Amino acid sequence: MQRATQTAACCWAHTVGPAMIRRCCRVRALASFSVMRGCAAALVAGSLQQTSRAYGVVPPPRDHQEKEMLHRILRVDHAGEYGANRIYAGQMAVLGRSRTGPLIQEMWDQEKKHLEKFNEILAENRVRPTALLPFWNIVGFALGASTALLGKEGAMACTVAVEESISEHYNSQIRALMEKEPERYTDLLNIIKEFRDDEMDHHDTGLEHDAETLPGYWFLKNAIQLGCKAAIYISERV
Ligand SMILES: [Fe+2]
Ligand SMILES: [Fe+2]
Repeated sequence: MQRATQTAACCWAHTVGPAMIRRCCRVRALASFSVMRGCAAALVAGSLQQTSRAYGVVPPPRDHQEKEMLHRILRVDHAGEYGANRIYAGQMAVLGRSRTGPLIQEMWDQEKKHLEKFNEILAENRVRPTALLPFWNIVGFALGASTALLGKEGAMACTVAVEESISEHYNSQIRALMEKEPERYTDLLNIIKEFRDDEMDHHDTGLEHDAETLPGYWFLKNAIQLGCKAAIYISERV
């Protein structure tokens, strides 16, 4: 209503002389300033609200026990994503130029994002990565490359085995955090759930691309999953 009045006053300004024009423009300027001031205040309030929480994804631990638990979770998840990246790197070194290359690259690109996120969280919370990263670097690449040498089916069998292990591992973390204080770990839970869904997609992609047709599929899958269990156990602790 006030704005409409001001606009109308300006439109009629030519009939009321220069003094009225000056006053009208001053009112409009004041009104604009007050709108701008309101917007600025809203922006400041918004940014204050955004920065009022002093932590990112993980809440600051309340005691030594919680710190141990969170560090263990973050360290092993980071190691898992790191290992997955090395496996896909090994697969791409062998099959990168084949017809399966783009499919493997697509999954690898998602793993890169997962690893980037955990790199960020580890740095933010000053969590030490596993001391075995150099070892997982070599083992992961070797596993990816050697299974890819068996052909597309070999690479996919490896993907199914690894992704199933990682999904199960994420599921057990989700259960553990949900049993404690789900609202306290909401952001971390959301990230783990999102990554778990990606890993399940990778697992299904492996099955859709003939993983099970590899001779000795069950033997290879069980052997890889045994290795994954050992890797998870060690990476949580070392
Ligand atoms: Fe991943
Ligand atoms: Fe994955």
